[in-house]
Amino acid sequence: MSATVVLGSQWGDEGKGKLVDILSADFDICARCAGGNNAGHTIVTFAFHLLPSGLVNPQCTGLIGNGVVVHIPSFFAELDALQAQGLDCTGRLFISDRTQIVFDFHQIVDGLKEVELGGSSIGTTKKGIGPAYSSKASRSGLRVHHLFDHETFAAKFRKLVEGRFKRYGHFEYDTEGEILRYKELAERLRPYVIDSVVYIHKALSEGKKVLVEGANALMLDIDFGTYPFVTSSSTTVGGVCTGLGIPPKKIGTAIGVIKAYTTRVGGGPFPTEQLNDIGVHLQEVGREFGTTTGRRRRCGWLDLVVMKHSCMINGYDSLNLTKLDILDDLDEIKVAVKYLVDEKELPGFPADLEVLAKVDVVYLTLPGWKQSIVSARSIDDLPGNCQKYIGFIERFLGVPIEWIGVGPGRESMVKKVGMLAV
Ligand code: IMO
Ligand code: MG
Repeated sequence: MSATVVLGSQWGDEGKGKLVDILSADFDICARCAGGNNAGHTIVTFAFHLLPSGLVNPQCTGLIGNGVVVHIPSFFAELDALQAQGLDCTGRLFISDRTQIVFDFHQIVDGLKEVELGGSSIGTTKKGIGPAYSSKASRSGLRVHHLFDHETFAAKFRKLVEGRFKRYGHFEYDTEGEILRYKELAERLRPYVIDSVVYIHKALSEGKKVLVEGANALMLDIDFGTYPFVTSSSTTVGGVCTGLGIPPKKIGTAIGVIKAYTTRVGGGPFPTEQLNDIGVHLQEVGREFGTTTGRRRRCGWLDLVVMKHSCMINGYDSLNLTKLDILDDLDEIKVAVKYLVDEKELPGFPADLEVLAKVDVVYLTLPGWKQSIVSARSIDDLPGNCQKYIGFIERFLGVPIEWIGVGPGRESMVKKVGMLAV
């Protein structure tokens, strides 16, 4: 058996949670491989940040892989909220013993780093993600298995905090109080902790169906995104292998989730951003507010230069185009098709943000459909101009759009197979 992977193809908030919700009804395991509680997916009335959203389906087991960074109090807060809403997760949630821990001091440092950056701050979620991955990369991080040898844990923890004090000055932090708190948290976490490598390989070899839920998105990837305005993990298909310990041959299908326009939260470049009525329209009609931080999302046209870059790296088998209904009222819709510098087309999405700042974005204008598509349930229910928009994207990228989101509800999804003939 091989895993199915759902990945964000733009700057996040593409609507990955809805597809994961629909698909997970048919899967045995839903796993997270990267990121932390910087992600945010609301499904029905359940809010997911750290836990796999497949948990909404009662037959699905959630797994947090080694590539994730976990703030344990947030893990329990999210779990308690789900249980309080009647979603019983007993016996169907596990976490890898290799998962790195995010501590409160990482979150404090996240804020201090942003202040230090001043005008060029990244606009992080302040969940301690960057500082926790920094601890991991500098080989001083603490992992879940460390919790179960309290004396060693305490010694390593003191050293880690001391290092942060040296770097950032003596911020207010109760080191000894935290050590005691983690002694208790360790016992509460114990039943969830497993060797996830053995677990997932056994599951795959027994023919269990595994769904991997990507967090964040391609353009926020530490290598391929708009560095340094990115998150601190591998959000690509490569992160699925390293974040779960599964070989590339065990990845069967990769589905890219792409919003019908583009949004971005936080700082950093955004070539198709519309600081005008169009941007305001998309923000308001699309209700573009961050689920994790409540921030207003920046909005603009769909950028197919970004999407080509995304397709090359993740090799999507198919795409889920989301929030297409948000474009219903527009007379015409623009799509970015190339970047020019000094009138010469760039071969791909540039690495250098100085180059990116100089690009002239070339748009193609497509006619709008000017009617509501919210009740469409098959491709034939969609107006001609809407089908043309879908067909254009597919042909440009060479990847079929097999799911089309036409409204907020679970049922508002048009499914089709292969590419459109138009
Ligand atoms: P989902 O899974 C949108 C952005 C932050 C910030 C940058 C770095 O909901 O699509 P971090 O806290 O990760 O160090 O912040 O990355 N960011 C996201 N934006 N959706 C996300 O996840 C994001 N995860 C991180 O806004 O600009
Ligand atoms: Mg988000």
